[in-house]
Amino acid sequence: MNRKAIVGVVIIMTIALIGLLGIQLYWIHSASTVKESSFRRSVNEAMAKVVYKLERLEKRRAAEINPFPVMLSFNKHLDYSLFITSNEMDSLISLELNIRGVDTRFQFGIYKPEYDLFIMEKSSDYRKQLIQIGYAYPLFSYDLFTTPEYLLIFFPYEKQFLLTELWGMLLISIILIIVIVYTFSYTITILIRQKKISDMKSDFMNNMTHEFRTPISTISLACEAIGDKELPKSEKFYDNYIDIIQEENNRLSILSERILQAAVLEKGELKMHLEIVDLHAVIRDVIKNIRIQVEIKDGEIRTNLQAKPSQLEGDKVHLTNLVYNLLDNATKYTPRKPEIRIHTENSGQGITLSIRDNGTGISKHEQKKIFDKLYRIPTGNIHNVRGFGLGLSYVKAIVGEHKGKITIESEINKGTQFKIYLPYKIHE
Ligand SMILES: Nc1ncnc2c1ncn2[C@@H]1O[C@H](COP(=O)(O)OP(=O)(O)OP(=O)(O)O)[C@@H](O)[C@H]1O
Ligand SMILES: [Mg+2]
Repeated sequence: MNRKAIVGVVIIMTIALIGLLGIQLYWIHSASTVKESSFRRSVNEAMAKVVYKLERLEKRRAAEINPFPVMLSFNKHLDYSLFITSNEMDSLISLELNIRGVDTRFQFGIYKPEYDLFIMEKSSDYRKQLIQIGYAYPLFSYDLFTTPEYLLIFFPYEKQFLLTELWGMLLISIILIIVIVYTFSYTITILIRQKKISDMKSDFMNNMTHEFRTPISTISLACEAIGDKELPKSEKFYDNYIDIIQEENNRLSILSERILQAAVLEKGELKMHLEIVDLHAVIRDVIKNIRIQVEIKDGEIRTNLQAKPSQLEGDKVHLTNLVYNLLDNATKYTPRKPEIRIHTENSGQGITLSIRDNGTGISKHEQKKIFDKLYRIPTGNIHNVRGFGLGLSYVKAIVGEHKGKITIESEINKGTQFKIYLPYKIHE
């Protein structure tokens, strides 16, 4: 997947998410309208029942008080105090509302608009709301002798009650959307990381094939020459070709050794054979091997080995490879006239080795990545320098095994300095 495809996916996903959010909000809005009308219907039903029960109660009480009513007083309703108290009224309303799932606090009052009078009420605090925005139901409308009376009911927490369930929906939607956004961005990060790794791996495969192909074809050419019956052969001829084969074979075994080392590092199976190692001797050995490469480029290696004693506890082979890798880099990444300085000194309970070059330098941003396995700086003039991106990750692992520290100072086009601290004793 290339960069464009990833950006495309991100844009499509963002649009889809915004659309989803819009639809979600629309649904929540519709749900709130439905909820409101269902609340209204439940309240109306409950109150119709309350009014009915109230009127029946009044009739029964009236019959008890006056079993033989005269025609005129037949329709006139009794005084409320004779058949219901405010508390009983409260329980009656509460019962009917609860049956219909309206489980929120309410205020009620029996109101006579003509006299602006509350005949009965739960509390006097909500009179204004009851009159202005309360639900109103006429009482005893058949009573022609009294002016109209209304049962008013008001829910102080109506909005909150309606919203509680919707808030739940909204909250779940928001949580789900956050989860989707998070997992999506996480997937994209992994995708980008995987892409980088796969790019690095294919670079590595290309380099490796290239590195192996050269010695293999040289060896095969040498063998052909030796086997060629028509070529005149002398002792010198054989020595020459055997030398070439030997040299290329060495190269191959060094290469395979490095790849094996990387595999060992990967599995975390690095083995250390600890002994007392003279670091200065190791440095001199490596210089002997690498000097020729520096001289080809018209450069020089200068040493200033001050550490005393220079012996420390460590693995000779790994320390040799470590110094080799750093000197190899210093030479490889200095295009012209490498001037390599190697310095050692005592510091704390160990030795600090520093290797400085006047090469291409490494930017601050790249300095964080160069110790990663297979990482090679992808720009500048280094693409013509061969390598696997394994050297520094190996160096870092070895420094770690020796309980040491590695630091880097570098400036683009000026040069690079690696400083490595190695303690005299790994185990105190
Ligand atoms: N002294 C240096 N000067 C400038 N750049 C360097 C130096 N040392 C390392 N680098 C950068 O860091 C990268 C990683 O180095 P590392 O030694 O791990 O890999 P490599 O040299 O590319 O391959 P290998 O060492 O496996 O042959 C290099 O590709 C190079 O870009
Ligand atoms: Mg290297």
